[in-house]
Amino acid sequence: MNSTAYPIVEVKEVTKQYKVRVGLFRKVPFYALLKVSLAILEGEIHGILGESGCGKSTLGRIILDLEKPDWGDVRWFGLSVRNLSKENYKSLRPKIQAVFQDSYASLNPRLKIRDILQEPYLLNYPHHKKKVAEIIREYLHRVGLSEDYLDRYPHQLSGGQRQRVALARALLTKPSLIVLDEPTSALDMTIQSQILQLLKELQSQYNLSYLLITHSLPVALEIADRITVMYLGRIVESFPRTLFNQVRHHPYTLLLFKSYPDPFADTPPDISDLSGEPASPLNRPVGCDFSPRCPEVAEICFKKHPLLQDREPLHKIACWKR
Ligand SMILES: Nc1ncnc2c1ncn2[C@@H]1O[C@H](COP(=O)(O)OP(=O)(O)O)[C@@H](O)[C@H]1O
Ligand SMILES: [Mg+2]
Repeated sequence: MNSTAYPIVEVKEVTKQYKVRVGLFRKVPFYALLKVSLAILEGEIHGILGESGCGKSTLGRIILDLEKPDWGDVRWFGLSVRNLSKENYKSLRPKIQAVFQDSYASLNPRLKIRDILQEPYLLNYPHHKKKVAEIIREYLHRVGLSEDYLDRYPHQLSGGQRQRVALARALLTKPSLIVLDEPTSALDMTIQSQILQLLKELQSQYNLSYLLITHSLPVALEIADRITVMYLGRIVESFPRTLFNQVRHHPYTLLLFKSYPDPFADTPPDISDLSGEPASPLNRPVGCDFSPRCPEVAEICFKKHPLLQDREPLHKIACWKR
């Protein structure tokens, strides 16, 4: 990635509202995403970091156009998705792929790996029927699996092997961006680092961009070029990994860091500092979303939510105290 890299995807002030049932008859709306803006650059691994429920997967689904935003705009290659012509949509859609946490749910259990890979490929390249067998073998090798796996079913594979198949399937349509939603969260540590290593290799080999959704700081630090931190549906900070040790971080980001004394340790983090007031988009505070839990809270923080602003080139932060 270089400084002139262009955006593959732009998200502009995207807002998404859901309703939650309260009691028997009442449905209460809440914001799962609130004016989220970001760009995923060509060749960039863009990490989205935050606790469960902060809106990471919703953002991923909206970028993939699996869901529509209520407000705001998503652009693929500079073009607003909602205004794409049928032909443009058809040619750009395969350029943005996804791998989810639980590929057992996303790989059809009744199909052999061969068919799981062949079907989407032929859908996009129907005239490649003769070459398809050779091509899927090649992609299987690239994700580190031998062709022995072609005749197996998903349940005959381990979690790590299924993630490799899901990656091969994503790669087959020659994407520019892959949305990786907690791709290693279901795997044990050794397998997790193998998959992260593979993701890194594939990224540089194909000059891919990733949106890497994770609740794990070590995972984000391991491979992301940029880390965007979300809290209750909003971005609170975004910084290049190279500035990780150099910038003054958002108090929420600092708490996330503190809960990982050694970000690369195998032991689970101590999140006692993060417990306390449970964060919920259903009872969003009047001022800054983080004010009820913030160790640095000041008077202004209870009155108004701070906007996300550039603090230094490449570093954005939403905090009254920064
Ligand atoms: N389809 C849906 N209907 C209602 N609420 C939803 C839906 N999808 C997600 N949510 C809620 O929106 C919030 C954000 O969810 P999600 O994007 O899955 O967060 P994350 O991926 O960060 O854990 C959560 O409170 C979740 O319960
Ligand atoms: Mg999620």
